[in-house]
Amino acid sequence: MPIVRDSIKDKSVSFLEELKFDTTLDKRIFRHGQTKISIEKKDCFSLLESLNNEIDVIVTDPAYSGMNNKLKLGKGRIVGKYERRGSSEGKWFGEFEDSVENYGRFLAACRDALKDSGHIYIMLDSFSLLSLGGLIREYFDVKNVIVWDKVNMGMGHYFRRKHEFIIFATNKNNRKIKHRSFPDVWRFKRIHNSVYPTQKPVEIFQAMIYASAENGFTVCDPFMGSGSSAVAAIKNKCNFIGGDIAEKAFSISSHRIASYLEMGGDILQKKSANIDGEKIFWE
Ligand SMILES: C[S@@+](CC[C@H](N)C(=O)[O-])C[C@H]1O[C@@H](n2cnc3c(N)ncnc32)[C@H](O)[C@@H]1O
Repeated sequence: MPIVRDSIKDKSVSFLEELKFDTTLDKRIFRHGQTKISIEKKDCFSLLESLNNEIDVIVTDPAYSGMNNKLKLGKGRIVGKYERRGSSEGKWFGEFEDSVENYGRFLAACRDALKDSGHIYIMLDSFSLLSLGGLIREYFDVKNVIVWDKVNMGMGHYFRRKHEFIIFATNKNNRKIKHRSFPDVWRFKRIHNSVYPTQKPVEIFQAMIYASAENGFTVCDPFMGSGSSAVAAIKNKCNFIGGDIAEKAFSISSHRIASYLEMGGDILQKKSANIDGEKIFWE
């Protein structure tokens, strides 16, 4: 079992050095009561193509290349470098090539991995929504374009970005979500100074899973990054199958999940992303 740290206070010390992770493993399985959490260091295609009609809900946040390619600023600076803030380690992971062919192959693999009653939630920035969003309709029945309102503004040279999109779609038999009273704008604070670049709040994935899953359902995230979706699945008493091509994602997720299961605390997200006093639809 890897060494699990209970906090990440001193960010000047290399997080990965501190973890002393075992780089020889490519797959880890955790058991928690009746549920099973399985994560792999794997390309999204190898993971999805090994699953056939067995996933209830896909929740995922791919690393699109489009935004970085289209938003080159000033002297070659690129928005969204996928580096840890203040780190000299360089890029932590590569982007997923968001050509129509590659994205189409990804969507087809998601459709085959999902049960006919399956639901899928795919996160997209504004650029990917324009270039790839329409393609999702060729593979799924798109029901909603959900807006994630991040509460605080981010970067931008024109209007500054404060939101992202989440496409919600059903597979063949159009299963409903849990209630008809959920809104399509979700307000959760973004994670500041995250250990993993692009780390999303667990609450985003909790919202998706709460709306679409019952206890014991199987949730899959083929671009799991730091494992926020895994923590959300555990909180919703669901099984989880996750993958990521990057070594750092695999090791960080492994430690985050192990620590969450052993100690009940989330080592990467100490504070809730909820807004004080605002009611959340799963409460
Ligand atoms: C935007 S991040 C996901 C962040 C995650 N939602 C979180 O909260 O930490 C996208 C992830 O996709 C991974 N990735 C990029 N190309 C991939 C591929 N072909 N297959 C699997 N994972 C890939 C990257 O390593 C990165 O961790």
